[in-house]
Amino acid sequence: MKSCVWRGIYPLVFDAMTIAQRYPCVADLEATAKRRMPRFAWEYVSGGIGNETCIARNRRALDEVKLSPQYLVDGADDPDLRCTLLGQNYNLPFGIAPIGLSGLMWPKTSEILAAAAKQNNIPCALSTFATAGLEDIQTIAGEHAWFQLYPPKDLAIRTELLDRAHKSGYDTLIVTVDIPVETRRDRDIRNGLSVPPLFNIKTLLQILARPQWALATLLAGQPEFETLKRYIPHGASLEQAATFLSDQVSWHVTPQLLAEIREQWPGKLIVKGVLTPEDAEICQRIGADSLVVSNHGGRQLDAACSALDVIGEIRNTVGRDMPLIADGGVRNGLDIARMLAMDADFVLLGRPFVYAVAALGDRGGNHVIEVLRDELKCTLAQLGCSNIDESGLRRVVVVPS
Ligand SMILES: Cc1cc2nc3c(=O)[nH]c(=O)nc-3n(C[C@H](O)[C@H](O)[C@H](O)COP(=O)(O)O)c2cc1C
Repeated sequence: MKSCVWRGIYPLVFDAMTIAQRYPCVADLEATAKRRMPRFAWEYVSGGIGNETCIARNRRALDEVKLSPQYLVDGADDPDLRCTLLGQNYNLPFGIAPIGLSGLMWPKTSEILAAAAKQNNIPCALSTFATAGLEDIQTIAGEHAWFQLYPPKDLAIRTELLDRAHKSGYDTLIVTVDIPVETRRDRDIRNGLSVPPLFNIKTLLQILARPQWALATLLAGQPEFETLKRYIPHGASLEQAATFLSDQVSWHVTPQLLAEIREQWPGKLIVKGVLTPEDAEICQRIGADSLVVSNHGGRQLDAACSALDVIGEIRNTVGRDMPLIADGGVRNGLDIARMLAMDADFVLLGRPFVYAVAALGDRGGNHVIEVLRDELKCTLAQLGCSNIDESGLRRVVVVPS
């Protein structure tokens, strides 16, 4: 009997230990994800635009933030990581950024991350171009789900999308403004990236080289743009559907369009992709509740500043009352602390969550959150901070490089 019970729990204990030991940081998850994903999917998630100098700039900007540890303090042994953003209490000061084509990278990525967000009490943003339906993600994540909008040109479709989001329970809308024209990424063009994947000899060979991805995709069914598919004209071919969707989006979000969306959306509005005080001021005037200072993970303009280059100026423009969220290149708890120390109120991460799911399937979301939480806790303890608010981290001296 005893040995039976042990045999039952042994794999669970062993498994848990293996994951913790084998994947103590995001870089380990990334390496495994790369081995498990077909090349077209890997290059889509990991790549950037142009020469990918913006990705390197994001990394450099984070590395250059130095923090002064203060050891002779009381009360920093077990730092409190809880925070409040837009009236919502979260367990941790970071969340899951919106990711398009999510199910192409690993089946059910959005669903797995939505469940992990709820379980860990952090927010997760669903992209308009995710492969999960907005209603389904709301059912899984509840109040932790945010909806990210690429505004459709057709007013009727835009209104219906916003209505669906509101009625299904979303309170927070993100409008992304940093794609004024359709993106042109060399790797994706070379790979002929599409949803579902186009089956030619090249992609087929890439898929055959990744049997775990192939099997998981076969079991989950081919990915589709679940939120948008009802608007695609009946009988459209794959190519026609892709053209229809891309033609449908108002890639360029003008101040007028943003103001219209503000008018239409009854909940909280976050504008994502702001990198100048001028844009920040317009968003504030229009009535946005928060901004994501972001260069889209180095995927839009290779010469763009990193969030850390501009967050100070943006803070001076919008003042203390508007929460600033920052992202781009954050890969560990120390990076999160760096963003907070540089005056972000909250931090988003994109790729690390995808890497975690691609590496570990449905255990990936919870694991990467645990890793980031532990790293952040250790960092704050090293810094002598008892919590993440101003009386905590912000008294740490940031040494300009
Ligand atoms: C594969 C991928 C897809 C993305 N799709 C979207 C999207 O649909 N909407 C959006 O606002 N941002 C999108 N982003 C940008 C992320 O939300 C976020 O700003 C970025 O990933 C942060 O950088 P990081 O990946 O280095 O953490 C995407 C990023 C990646 C890597």
